[in-house]
Amino acid sequence: MADSGWHPHLWHPLRRTGEGLPPLPVRRGRGVWLELEDGRQLIDAISSWWVTLHGHGEPTIAAAIAAQARDLEQVIFADFRHGPAARLAERLCGHWPGLSRVFFSDDGSTAVEVALKLAWQHQQRRDPQRRQLIAFEGAYHGDTVGAMAVGSRGLFNAPFEPLLFPVARAPWPATWWDDDGVDAREAAALQSLEALLQTPTVAVILEPLVQGASGMAMVRPSFLQGVAERTRAAGALLIADEVLTGFGRTGDLFACRRAGLTPDLVALSKGLTGGFLPMSVTLAGETLHQSFCGADPTAMFFHGHSFTANPLGCAAALASLDLLEADPGRPQRLEQLHRPRLQILARHPLVQRPRLLGTIAAFDLRGPSGYLQPAGRELQRLCLAQGVYLRPLGSVVYLMPPLVISAAELDRCYAALQQGLAQLTPA
Ligand SMILES: Cc1ncc(COP(=O)(O)O)c(C=O)c1O
Repeated sequence: MADSGWHPHLWHPLRRTGEGLPPLPVRRGRGVWLELEDGRQLIDAISSWWVTLHGHGEPTIAAAIAAQARDLEQVIFADFRHGPAARLAERLCGHWPGLSRVFFSDDGSTAVEVALKLAWQHQQRRDPQRRQLIAFEGAYHGDTVGAMAVGSRGLFNAPFEPLLFPVARAPWPATWWDDDGVDAREAAALQSLEALLQTPTVAVILEPLVQGASGMAMVRPSFLQGVAERTRAAGALLIADEVLTGFGRTGDLFACRRAGLTPDLVALSKGLTGGFLPMSVTLAGETLHQSFCGADPTAMFFHGHSFTANPLGCAAALASLDLLEADPGRPQRLEQLHRPRLQILARHPLVQRPRLLGTIAAFDLRGPSGYLQPAGRELQRLCLAQGVYLRPLGSVVYLMPPLVISAAELDRCYAALQQGLAQLTPA
């Protein structure tokens, strides 16, 4: 370890080496707690980038991975199938009426790439006139090139703009507590979408109920139902990117279930393996799958990853699903734990636009907004000093702890925020 605290050979994501607090050396994780090499304990209040569902080191998932590693750690999935993948696919499809096929990949971005490519190839065979993709303002679907293209254009993808294919964009009528302008914003957004759908469209892609990376921007189920109706009426496919929202994050097992949506394609990752291993899936219906079958060799889906359906990832995902299915009310109980605490925090003069959905509680810091605003970073530092790890999205602050957080541990998170806000230097 270099004296500066920055390792001479590591390159961290979304950081400039040498700028700001150096990454913290961690040695262990248990439940909501991370233990640093110097013995300090931190609450992981954002589930390590929204993946750690049942807490760090969850013993049944750890045991399932170890047992699977002794039997079969990896096999080429083009020519082999195995029990863990088959069982996982069957169980996932059981939660998604109308979706019966599971294509495995490695992370959220690749699950989105697969969904886009499946939608495109399927539609090109049926109706080559359809060439438009529609996404929403503020969307984030990943950092690979295709996923970036459907993401909102701005700071994160500006250097790559010439590489990104064109995407039509509809407004996202985000809402919050006591928001009295939402009806008008939703009506305007649906009108814009209708206008865009006049052009023959391959698919509409959205993050159901909450856009995560753009600032925990929540919408109402009725808006999403309006989007789905219009998309279907135009003959376009609906792609739900549940990479963040899946597996209980929004209070139900899947956001589409909470919102009453039945998409044609779904991307899942993050919580899929309980946050233990990188893996993702894209779910599709049988009609779509059939357009990749038959005698024509060019009909196949020309896409595959080395680690497709990795048995260790599948074993972890099965164990994680066991936990979720054994206690389906847990995400809702976490929402109920958040609610009174967020109501108190919302009285702070620096807090605006409080919002809550399932495990996710968020607000905006009053003052200048944007990802590069320093106030969020400052609040992060102040909370860290009190043993709570947060990672605000610029001026958007949120908590998204593992499902296993106790009331007392959540109290510590809110207390750290109260204290942090009290010490925050006004912008
Ligand atoms: C909605 C959504 N889609 C896709 C992704 C990309 O996932 P990954 O970082 O695993 O590639 C993310 C990541 O935050 C996400 O929130």
